[in-house]
Parts: sequence; structure tokens; C-alpha cells
Amino acid sequence: MIAKECKRLAEVDFPIAKVGEAVLSREKKFPVPRGLPSTMHQWWARRPLGSCRAVLLGLLLPDPCDPLCPEEFKQEARRLLPRVRGVGDSDEGLRRSLLGFIADFSNWDNSANPAFLEVARGLVRAAYSEGPPLVVDPFAGGGSIPLEALRVGCEAFASDLNPVACLILKVMLEDIPRHGPQLAEELRRVGAEIKAQAERELAELYPRDPDGATPIAYLWARTVRCEAPNCGAEIPLVRSFWLCKKANRRRALRYKVEKSRPPRVEFEVFEPKTEKDVPAGTVARAKARCLACGRVLLPERVRTQLAAQRGGADVVFDERGRRTGGARLLAVVTLRSGEQGRRYRLPTEREYEAVWRAHQRLAAVLDEWERGGRRGLCPVPDERTPQGGGSGAGRAFSVQKYGMLRWGDLFTARQKVALLLLAEKIAALYRKGDAMSVATAELLAMAMDKVADFNCSLSAWRSSNEDVGHLFGRQALPIVWDFVETNLCCSSYMDFGRAVEHVVEVVNHTASAVRRSGQVHISDAREPVLPEESAHILFTDPPYYDAVPYADLSDFFFVWLKRTLPGHPLLRDPFDPGNPLTPKAAEIVQNEAVQVNGQVKDRAFFESGMARAFREGRRVLQDDGIGAVVFAHKTTEGWEALLSGLIRAGWTVTASWPITTEMGSRLRARESAALAASVHLVLRPRPEEAGVGDWDEVLRELPGRVGDWMERLQGEGIRGADLVFACIGPALEIFSRYSRVETAEGREVTLAEFLEKVWEVVGRAALRQVLGAADGAGALEEDARLVALFLWTLQSTNGNAAQAEAAEEEDEAEVAEDEEEEEERPRKAGGGYALVYDVVRRFAQPLGIRLPDWEGRVIETKKGVVRLLTIRERARVLFGREGADLVARRIERAPRGPVQLELLLADRVAEAGAEYGPARRRGTRGSRGSGSDRLPEGEHGIPRGATTLDRVHAAMLLQAAGRANALRALLRSEVERGPDFLRLANALAALYPKGSEERRLVEAMLLAVPR
Ligand SMILES: C[S@@+](CC[C@H](N)C(=O)[O-])C[C@H]1O[C@@H](n2cnc3c(N)ncnc32)[C@H](O)[C@@H]1O
Ligand SMILES: [Zn+2]
Repeated sequence: MIAKECKRLAEVDFPIAKVGEAVLSREKKFPVPRGLPSTMHQWWARRPLGSCRAVLLGLLLPDPCDPLCPEEFKQEARRLLPRVRGVGDSDEGLRRSLLGFIADFSNWDNSANPAFLEVARGLVRAAYSEGPPLVVDPFAGGGSIPLEALRVGCEAFASDLNPVACLILKVMLEDIPRHGPQLAEELRRVGAEIKAQAERELAELYPRDPDGATPIAYLWARTVRCEAPNCGAEIPLVRSFWLCKKANRRRALRYKVEKSRPPRVEFEVFEPKTEKDVPAGTVARAKARCLACGRVLLPERVRTQLAAQRGGADVVFDERGRRTGGARLLAVVTLRSGEQGRRYRLPTEREYEAVWRAHQRLAAVLDEWERGGRRGLCPVPDERTPQGGGSGAGRAFSVQKYGMLRWGDLFTARQKVALLLLAEKIAALYRKGDAMSVATAELLAMAMDKVADFNCSLSAWRSSNEDVGHLFGRQALPIVWDFVETNLCCSSYMDFGRAVEHVVEVVNHTASAVRRSGQVHISDAREPVLPEESAHILFTDPPYYDAVPYADLSDFFFVWLKRTLPGHPLLRDPFDPGNPLTPKAAEIVQNEAVQVNGQVKDRAFFESGMARAFREGRRVLQDDGIGAVVFAHKTTEGWEALLSGLIRAGWTVTASWPITTEMGSRLRARESAALAASVHLVLRPRPEEAGVGDWDEVLRELPGRVGDWMERLQGEGIRGADLVFACIGPALEIFSRYSRVETAEGREVTLAEFLEKVWEVVGRAALRQVLGAADGAGALEEDARLVALFLWTLQSTNGNAAQAEAAEEEDEAEVAEDEEEEEERPRKAGGGYALVYDVVRRFAQPLGIRLPDWEGRVIETKKGVVRLLTIRERARVLFGREGADLVARRIERAPRGPVQLELLLADRVAEAGAEYGPARRRGTRGSRGSGSDRLPEGEHGIPRGATTLDRVHAAMLLQAAGRANALRALLRSEVERGPDFLRLANALAALYPKGSEERRLVEAMLLAVPR
């Protein structure tokens, strides 16, 4: 027994950098290792196993340096550890060794290594001599946490509200440990049988070419009709006409318009020499351009026309099987045996005939169901798709706007026929009912879901890799205008055979490392399930506020699973038997587009849900137990909602560890700083006798604690927004110690108020760091502080924000277009860097930066996102349309003496104020040509003339324009003026992302400074 007061390792230290590195180098590296549980079935934002394993061991094991640490534990640890690493003699040495072991074991390559497994389980046994501890995760999702609990020899209780999650959990935590490697064998055997049968039955739908080549993928476009008078041409909706865009092979489509009535567009496959040879796509942001007459069809009309075709993924045939409209085949990708590389050809009648056969087969299946009196489920999923909308989690869905009202509408007829066939065969196995058949059928159902994920009409062709992007590359269902359908009778892409292989490897790997089974329960985390004080550890990863609409997303799989595993006890809504989909009402998520029993799922709903779930967790935990919660969210609102829930539920934070678990661009919202780290907060039940805290004392303690923490984290490579959110942990250690915190007058201080202070302290520390001065906040003007803080927050933990952005855009350019989102996204054309408004405001306010004053001059705010103007945009603000040349000429005309940049810029800034933002309302035009050396100050004391930032930017622009003489003159004058110019320029040189134009210009400009 470890005494309650004895600290656990995770409360004193943690190898954050090494664990982050281990996770990123294996689990999060593309291609991900085979056998990794996440490759079995999609679950959104899964936690990496390595970080869960490491944190869990940190919670389970006592700190050997704690005077209360049991001697027996230390002895056993000294006996065990030498199997995998050296151990120091002292307690500190033992602690280092334990932390080193935790770090090494977090690497996927060691996760099934028998020596590591033995040591880990031995250590846990030594810490819990009374028997294996119980680890509880009430938001278990894809099951990373409970799986790790089983791996290190604990008992695990995993629950989730979602039936799809529960099925994944059952397979991982119950079926695989129970049946072991035998299950993999059975799966492989039955999988091969089903695959062979299905291929025989589907062969006629994927005819080979007469010359023996195999079509492996069909590239389709949805179509609409041009509504211009006298036109009526069919418009294939195509985002890009590239077919293959590789360095050594380039193919694309070009077209000519046949002057028939209506005009017809004919395609041709060709080999483009340059980008320019390839015609521009026909659709962007739901606006379609007619290739015949050039007119544009507006989004409402595009949507209406597609809605009339239920999304338009299917061909429309006449009664004789001739295509009259609907989806149009653009090209067919083929492969010949013995030949390297793919070929691209135009479609033939053969392809449409095969699709026609699929239509007839599907109609026959539905007919039979109708004739049988519609008994049981409709074979094709007819459950409704999510309505979507709003600014919360529902923004992920736009399919209904295009008429895809039923889940079946997301598939082509041929895809439906193939999936129905697989479902039927798996269902027959499931109905046998013996334990092995049931477990095998469940695994086959996972494989079938994987097939569906890659084979629906929202799967996009990726011309740069010649492959298929799966639907859930993002946590959304965006429209894909031109989509790819693969041949499910060949193994070039994700067919059933491949999917089964993935699952087999997961079973084998998991069975080799996990022998003990866990318990799975479908339940609402807010409701009591376990007895009081039954758990030793509560470790969970709750929903990320509005980031992932789990229930709606999971319906994509749920509707198929119901048909594959008919009557499965987990595949239902336990709270509402009439609901044909996954439970929605109890899902904890912020999504104001949804109303449940008259209640909107707003912030208060999320907050109270969290509080109830954590109160329940507190009830279940033993008094000497310990907890941990993982959280990652890019807004302060999300954080406040989670934290206030935690504190209200009676927990206190005792440590917090940000671990880099994402590759820069993954979890990031495109408009905000990359969040690469998720914060792991270590929790203890707050003692009943926790007293009232004194606000002044809390405030006195805060800067020191936050300052030390920032230093440590920066040493471990944590940067920018990750660093900001990571500071919330140690700050809360101070605040959550008390049952409440009061001012001297006895007023209770709210969490929101406290967090404002935390932001201020972090902001001040950051400014001090980047602007160098003892009090960075006071020394330079507001705009310099704003830009410095902005760029500091944008820094990303995994290298470089600008690079991440570039890579991501490349990725997405081809994949999918959610025009809804595009409208919300700040203009990409302008480029520049962007942060969520709320984050900028939090920093700015306490540091005396008034954002509205810099609107149009330094920043641009739109739809909750603040964008830093690029240096090119600043050129217009500073110098007007004439650009830097005019300034250069003026400076060159009078090269001696101080450069009167103020005058020039003053005019511009005044004009700019009139052009942009709120300055116009203040009528800054009044200052035009005032002629004096020192310009009158604007409202709020903003200098209307040039600020230090303006001057640094002016110098960068002269550099860009190649006006060396003018630049030299300006720099000479600035160096004479004082140290501010160089101080800011040097700070910016370190802050602008590597590879950015700004970084290049400021560095080059600094080289020209006279020494
Ligand atoms: C962040 S995910 C957990 C991910 C998991 N740690 C993993 O690695 O896959 C949060 C989970 O909370 C679940 N959830 C949402 N509301 C819930 C509720 N009221 N009760 C239980 N689970 C809920 C969601 O279904 C989702 O699986
Ligand atoms: Zn037209």
C-alpha cells in the first residue's frame, strides 16, 4: 500500500521531451506501424498509446525520493530495472532510472518486448502488493488508456456513450485478450473465404479491359447543367484536371466543346509539360463554371441541382441503361500485370454498362425487401445524415445541403452492392452465435468499416500519390466534387482483403502484449455505474469541447455495423430505443446547432456535463487514488469550460505535463496556431478540509511558478500556443488547492478572473523574453508588442509554423472542399499568420494593447480570427500604392540628416486609417500634411506617425525593393536615433517563421545595418 500522502512519479517529474519524441517518431509517423490498434478502425483524435502508457506508469508508481515511498517498492525496482537499464544507487538515481524506463517503454517498438512488459508489470505489482489496481476511463473512445492499463497488468474498466466506440473497445479489451492469436488465424481464414466469394459475385461489376488490363480506379465527377440561356451544357464539377502529378509522370485531362445542342464537353488524356497546360477546374466554393459558355452557376443553384440527384454520386440512366445525366466518368486508372506504373484512359461504354448492372442489382435487393413487407432494416442505410450547421461541432457537416439526406446517399450504387454483400456474409457468421464466430464477425465488421471509409463518394483521388484519401482524413464530412471509386475486386487500394490484413496484424500485435481482459460498458459518464471508492486510478481523455462531433461522425459506421452484426447488444441507443442512430442527447459537446429536450448544447451544457462526469469520477475513486485528464483545445473558452468542471467537482491539480502528441498540422485548426501538445493534468481529490485561499497570496505566487515552468518547458522544446496552454496547469496547482479563493474584502474570485491573470503573467514573461528589456511591456509601442506576442504564440512545438502551413495546404488542395468552411476561413490570398481572436484578446488586454486601434494597420479581424497583415499588405498601409520606390526616391534626394520617415508615413497611415478599420471613424484625415516634425498623437495616444514597427517594416520593404542606398540612409538614421529599432528587428528576426518572406527580409535588412 502506498500512503495517500506519498507522491507519485507523475507528481514530481516526467520525461516529456523523450515521450513526445518516441510518439512522434513511431506512432505518429507516416506510414504508421502495422499492428497499431488505430489502424483497425477509425476513431477521431485517438490518444497515442505511448503517452498514455507513460503517464499511466507515472500515476501508478511512487516517487522513490518521497520519504513515504515503501522500501519494498524500491528494492523490487532495483531488482527489476537492470533487465532493461542501469540503476543509480541513490533514491534520486532510482527516480532517474524509473523515468528513463518510462520514456523507453513509451516507444512503440518496445511495447510488446517481453523484458519491458515484465519490468512494467513487476513494478506495478510492487506498488500494489494487495492486487492489481483498477484503472477507470469513462470517456474511453478508441481505448488507448484502458488498453495500456491492461498491458501493464492493471484491471481496466472502459466506458463510452458511443456504441461504435464500445464495439472497438470490446474487440480490443475483451475479444483479443480472451481468444489470443487463435483469433487472428480464424480471422485470416474466414476473411479469405469471404473475400473469394465476394469477388466471384462482384466480378461482373468491374470488367477487365479487352487487352487484359485491370481497371483499378474510376474517377468520377458530379454534374450540373448550365442555366445560361441557349446553353444547357452539362458541367462536370471538377476541382482539378490533374490525374497524375508526379515528378516522373504527369497526366491530366483537357477538353474541347462540341457545338451540338446542348454543347457537349469531350475530354482527352494528355501529358502536360507545365502547370499552365492543364485547364483550370470548374468548381470552387460551390460556384461552377460552364466549360461551353463560361457562365457561372451560383452555389444555391449548384446545391439545388445536386440535391435533386441526392448528391449526384450516381449515374442517371434511362430505362434501357443509357446514361442521361448524373455522375460522369472522367477517366479510368488501369494496371497491367508485369508493368510498373498506372495508365489513364477515357471511359468506355463497358464501364457504364457495369454500373447499370449494379443499379439493377441494387434495385432487386430493395424490391425484395419491399415485397417482404419491409421487415427488419432497409438493406441500404436509410437513416438520416446529420443536419450540421452552426459554429460549434456541427460545422463539420454540409452533406444535407447537397441532398445527401440518408447515409446510403454517400455511396454509389456499385459501392452499396459491394458493401451489402460483405455485410450479408459477415452477418451469417455472426448469427452462428458461438463465442469464436461472434468475435471473428466483430473483427470482420471492423474490416468492412475500413472498406467503407475508403470507398464512398466522398473519397478523393490524390494525383500526387495516385492514391485514395480516406473519408475521415478530417473530422468532418466535406463535399468532394470529383471523387474516386476503386475496384473492390483487386487489391490495389483498400479492398476487403487488405482491410482484413490490417485487422489481423492488430490482433496479433495486441495478443502478444495483452493477456488480461478488461470490462467494457456503454454508459453516460455523468451517471453512476461503478460502486463508490472502487477505482485506484481515474485516467481519461474527455471530449474536446466543440472540436469533434463524435456521435454524428460515428453514424457513418454505425449504420453499416447494425447491418453487419444484426441485433448486437452494443449497437443500439440504450437511452432511447426509438433512436435508429448513436445516442446524441447525452453526448457532451459544444454544438449550438443542436437542441436536446429544449436545451441547447452550449458552453454551460458542456461545463455542467464535465462537472457531473468528474464528480462521478471523484465518487468512484478511492480516497488515496489519483487521477489524470488529457486535454487539447485551441481556445481559452474550451479550457475554461473543462477546468471549471474539474474544480467544481472537487479535484485539485497537482502537476501538468504537455506532451507533443500531434505532428504540428494535424489537430490544428487551419486558421490558428498549431497545437501539437496535449496537456496531461494530474489530479487528486481535494481534501474536504481544504481552506479558503487568499487572492493576494495566490497572485504573489503566480509569476514565479509560471516563470520557472516556462523556462523548463522551453528547455524541452515546447513553444508558442502549446506553451501558453501548458502554463494553465501549474497556475491551477496554486488556485485549485483551495476550496475557494477570496479577496481581502471576502469576495470569491472566479476561475475566469484567475485565468485572465494567468494570461497576463504569461504574456509579460513572453514579452520580456522576446523584447529583451527588463519590462518589455513598457518599452516599445503597442504595435511592436502586439506583433511580437502574436508571432511568439504562433511558434510551433514541432518546428516551424510556416512550413507546417505550406505542407498542409498542399495536402488539402487536392483532397476536399468544404465550401462552408472556406467561407469562414480568413482569406488565404492575403496569407499572413492567424490566431483565434480570443487568444489575441486575452494577451492584449492586460498588457494595454487596444486591438481596435491596430485594425487595418497591423491586423485584420474577421469571423473570430485575427490575421497579421503580411509585409506586402503593410507596404500598402505604409507607402500607399506608389510603393517603396517613392519613399526610396525621397530618402535618396536628401540622404543626410535624420530620415523624416514620420512625415511620409504619417500621410499614409492617415489615409490608411481612412481606408481601413475604425480609424476612419475617428477621422484621422485631419492630420494630413500637418507639417510638423513631431506629429500630434491620435486618440488613445497612438502615434499617428511612424512607430518603431513601421520603421522596421519600412526598412524591410526597401530591402525587398532593392533600394540599397535609401535603406542604408534609413538604417544610419535609425541607429543614431536609439536602440529600439535594432532591438525590435532582432526580435522579429527570431520570431518570423523560418522560410517566410518576412524572415528572409528582416535578416537581409539586418545585414545591411552599419556596424
Ligand atoms: C477524446 S474522445 C476519447 C478518445 C480516446 N482516449 C482514444 O484514444 O481513442 C472522447 C470520448 O467521449 C465520448 N463521450 C462524449 N460524451 C460522453 C458521455 N456523456 N458519456 C460517455 N462518453 C462520452 C465520445 O464518444 C468520445 O469517444
Ligand atoms: Zn453554359
